[in-house]
Amino acid sequence: MAIILDGKKLRDKILDNLKDKVASFQIKPKLVVILAGEDSASKIYVENKRKFAHKTGIISEVINYSSDVKESVLIDKIKELNNDQSVHAILVQLPLPSHISKDKVINAITPEKDVDGFTPYNTSKLFSCDIPYVYPCTPKGILLLLDEYGIDIEGKHAVVVGRSQIVGHPLAQMLLNRNATVTVCHSHTKNLAQITKTADIIISAVGKNIIKGEMLKSDCVVVDVGIFKDESGKLSGDVDFDSSSKIASYISPVPGGVGPMTITSLMLNTVELFEKTL
Ligand code: GUN
Repeated sequence: MAIILDGKKLRDKILDNLKDKVASFQIKPKLVVILAGEDSASKIYVENKRKFAHKTGIISEVINYSSDVKESVLIDKIKELNNDQSVHAILVQLPLPSHISKDKVINAITPEKDVDGFTPYNTSKLFSCDIPYVYPCTPKGILLLLDEYGIDIEGKHAVVVGRSQIVGHPLAQMLLNRNATVTVCHSHTKNLAQITKTADIIISAVGKNIIKGEMLKSDCVVVDVGIFKDESGKLSGDVDFDSSSKIASYISPVPGGVGPMTITSLMLNTVELFEKTL
């Protein structure tokens, strides 16, 4: 049976330490989250962000907009926050309502306060193997989790399933920067199972139940980024846990694996951006 990559346990350990660090600051780091629309998953994620910021001693503010908000209203608010010295980190919760250009809104965030690492400045730093202000939260959290369990990345064949801007794409680059041999698979990939069978580390981030035990190499490491409700309303990941945990050496559960690590990275990134202003 595979060892569980326990994201909750690591979250609690990292955030306990971070809380002590934040308590030692005279001025407190402040995170502002912009939420536009009524997406129910986004509301839960944002509430979680607020809750863990509070637990860590980080000041947080959530600014809510209705789903018909104008793009210019969001951009004007971001410009205001960029100029507000009391704000150290800005996050625009994705997805945005479909009439709004995600790129225009994200690009309005000053790179120094871009807590997701999604602005062109930070992305170009990452993809040119230079140092961004911060690294995107989910990939950063996954690497923290692998490091915690002493899982070597260098020279390993890492297969990333999914090429999203939030997870798959930056994660592939971060694994490359750690000297993994990286394959990125996506919806057009042929013979997915043939490729996953050769993976030492497989990280799936597509939001569909696609990875089964029979697609895995013995003793590989499996990280499940997917989180969605299945037909019966039960929380599920990309990976079939029962069959995969019999083959893998390590596996992250859903919930309790990558999700808590994303929150952890967000808190770490907020404090890192704050510290750069000191
Ligand atoms: N929506 C789902 N994941 C994320 C994330 O990491 N950052 C932002 N801004 N929105 C998201």
